[in-house]
Amino acid sequence: MYNAKAYSVTSATSPFASTTIARRDLTEHDVQIEILFCGICHSDLHQARNEWSGLMPTVYPCVPGHEIVGRVTKVGSAVTKFKSGDLAAVGCMVDSDGTCPECQAGLEQFCPNFTLTYNFPDQHLGGVTYGGYSDSIVVKDRFVLRVPGNLDLAGTAPLLCAGITTYSPMRHWGVTKGTKVGVVGLGGLGHMAVKFAHALGAHTVVFTTSPGKKEDAFRLGADEVVISRDANEMAKQGGSFDFILDAVAAEHDINAYINMLRRDGNFVMVGAPEQPLPVSVFGLLFRRRNFSGSLIGGIAETQEMLDFCSQHNITSDVEVIPIQKVNEAYERLVKSDVKYRFSIDMTSLKAE
Ligand SMILES: NC(=O)c1ccc[n+]([C@@H]2O[C@H](COP(=O)([O-])OP(=O)(O)OC[C@H]3O[C@@H](n4cnc5c(N)ncnc54)[C@H](OP(=O)(O)O)[C@@H]3O)[C@@H](O)[C@H]2O)c1
Ligand SMILES: [Zn+2]
Ligand SMILES: [Zn+2]
Repeated sequence: MYNAKAYSVTSATSPFASTTIARRDLTEHDVQIEILFCGICHSDLHQARNEWSGLMPTVYPCVPGHEIVGRVTKVGSAVTKFKSGDLAAVGCMVDSDGTCPECQAGLEQFCPNFTLTYNFPDQHLGGVTYGGYSDSIVVKDRFVLRVPGNLDLAGTAPLLCAGITTYSPMRHWGVTKGTKVGVVGLGGLGHMAVKFAHALGAHTVVFTTSPGKKEDAFRLGADEVVISRDANEMAKQGGSFDFILDAVAAEHDINAYINMLRRDGNFVMVGAPEQPLPVSVFGLLFRRRNFSGSLIGGIAETQEMLDFCSQHNITSDVEVIPIQKVNEAYERLVKSDVKYRFSIDMTSLKAE
């Protein structure tokens, strides 16, 4: 065991503060990574503030962070995929059983025995896992991703959650050239969804509550932008969407979007608001529409996504901050005041 520097919260209402946490000594399959950047996902905020208390209550102290990019500092004796000095990345999961049908299918995110990167029982040290708001992490090699050399590292970190969470459902539901795609909510996830839909050749329509994001939406690749609080603009959209991805973190009316789908179209939630959302069943009955959810993506697909980003030169639009600004960043995230992801420069932890 060794001590790593980190930032943690000690209750749902306390601010982040500097601390030290224990990391395990490397086993033969482990990779130790010096963390260079960690994105701030809205899930970090939900978890730090115990907003998912019903499903995944937060154990304090909590060190969030599952959009991790860094450099390998040490590897276990059985690791062949990485060596000291390599760039490496870690997303939302750090382990799974590797044997269940989900793991065999490359869908580790649905493994009943997986381990999430933070706030999950730590199989090695007891207590809970600690995430990427830290200067180092030790992760089983199977859950470490290769980082393409041509991408900006600060903008690569958010790909590990915001990227895969939007890429995976688009691949699963076959978004391609000519598909009409809606993206609801232009935040961290939403702006990645727009980039992917555009790169896949889809006709992409952004629904935003923020008129100030309109120009950005076009720049990111949208073909149309709708201000969702404007009833006239919404009414003009009609019922022709093949696929709508909803990445909103708060309560909102999803029925308006379900009614915009064509026959057999898919409305997919990736946003994870705390409270249940009412669904009008008639919207589903007519035109046999589908309402689904999607959770991150498997490890092989995450690597595929990173390689896709490398080919298409896609990264997240980030505002880089030092860890000392994390409390301010959380306040701004709640107000949708970030374009479009905070990425923490972890070298700032050295000053603590
Ligand atoms: N399924 C998964 O695997 C997965 C993975 C990661 C995150 N998530 C969840 O996905 C959600 C989004 O995460 P994120 O990091 O992208 O968050 P984010 O950056 O805060 O973006 C959320 C966006 O939702 C819109 N929004 C916020 N409040 C709204 C309201 N009251 N009504 C309508 N729209 C509203 C805003 O976009 P506009 O300003 O454009 O309206 C905002 O930018 C979170 O709940 C997060 O926990 C799920
Ligand atoms: Zn996330
Ligand atoms: Zn499994």
